[in-house]
Amino acid sequence: MFKRLRRLRMNENLRAMLKETSLKIEDFIYPLFVVNGNNVKKEISSMPGVFQLSIDELLKECKELVSLDIKAIILFGVIENELKDSCGSEALDENSLIARAIRAIKAEYPQLFIITDLCFCEYTDHGHCGIIDPHTKSVANDLTLEISAKQALVHARAGADMIAPSGMMDGIIATLRKALDENGFENLPIMAYSTKFASAFYGPFRDVAESAPSYGDRKSYQMDYANAKEALLESLEDEKQGADILMVKPALAYLDIIKELAHHTLLPICVYNVSGEYALLKAGAKLGVIEYEKLMVETMIAFKRAGAKLIISYHAKEVARLIKEGKI
Ligand code: PBG
Repeated sequence: MFKRLRRLRMNENLRAMLKETSLKIEDFIYPLFVVNGNNVKKEISSMPGVFQLSIDELLKECKELVSLDIKAIILFGVIENELKDSCGSEALDENSLIARAIRAIKAEYPQLFIITDLCFCEYTDHGHCGIIDPHTKSVANDLTLEISAKQALVHARAGADMIAPSGMMDGIIATLRKALDENGFENLPIMAYSTKFASAFYGPFRDVAESAPSYGDRKSYQMDYANAKEALLESLEDEKQGADILMVKPALAYLDIIKELAHHTLLPICVYNVSGEYALLKAGAKLGVIEYEKLMVETMIAFKRAGAKLIISYHAKEVARLIKEGKI
């Protein structure tokens, strides 16, 4: 005797009824890159369909997102080199690019949930994620915490709905929670980039965000991708410090990490399906060597099957269209 597992696969309706994992529009967060100026819509060559947008163009994009029923965006600011300095002062101004973008979006599309990426690499002239310690030449952790709290308040006052610190500084969650609570933002959630690896999958992002480090790498703050135990330690530490949502980034090569984390936390888990993962699929489609849509959906399902609740993805609009058309 053997079990006929195929019995339940014979009928299409039954297959649909027994499907364990599915995608919905609410699972997705769409990344947007804002730049200064007017009428700017500059496509990134390695990431077809992803643009640097000035605020007027950003609003047009938001209109499309709302029409697709996408609920949430994550915002990145990209500023001119002349505006960058050693500590990323632009990001600390109440009138920073991100603050202006948040206010503009909230005025026209208050229903969109705005998450802000909180980091300094897009704003510093050296491209690292905080203030540099002149002796170690690495990011000075505690000084960076101080300015991160300031940046969080700029985002919060401008109307951000959730703050997502991505710099991998020790103590960042406790620092931001305290700053937000002391300033009347105790109900503003923090989504921690809690397990973020030093990854070559971020390559295309650094083109779009113009945030590649001018020297060295990020290995003294982002994690070694060989380490699974440390990955768990990082996320669980952020949970202890008060994170509301945890994140694993990148996503596709880290399904084991997502699953392991899902076994150790009751908090919602977000994954960041990063720029390099997107660029690979787009390149594969261009070469005609993959069935793009099928591969994209299979990838998204894999994230959720591994234990992710939310997915930050440059594919979000494409997935939303498939969902709307009833194709998935
Ligand atoms: C900023 C940040 C990065 C990404 C998100 N926030 C780049 C980095 O850490 O170098 C990567 C996103 C992507 O690759 O899509 N610290």
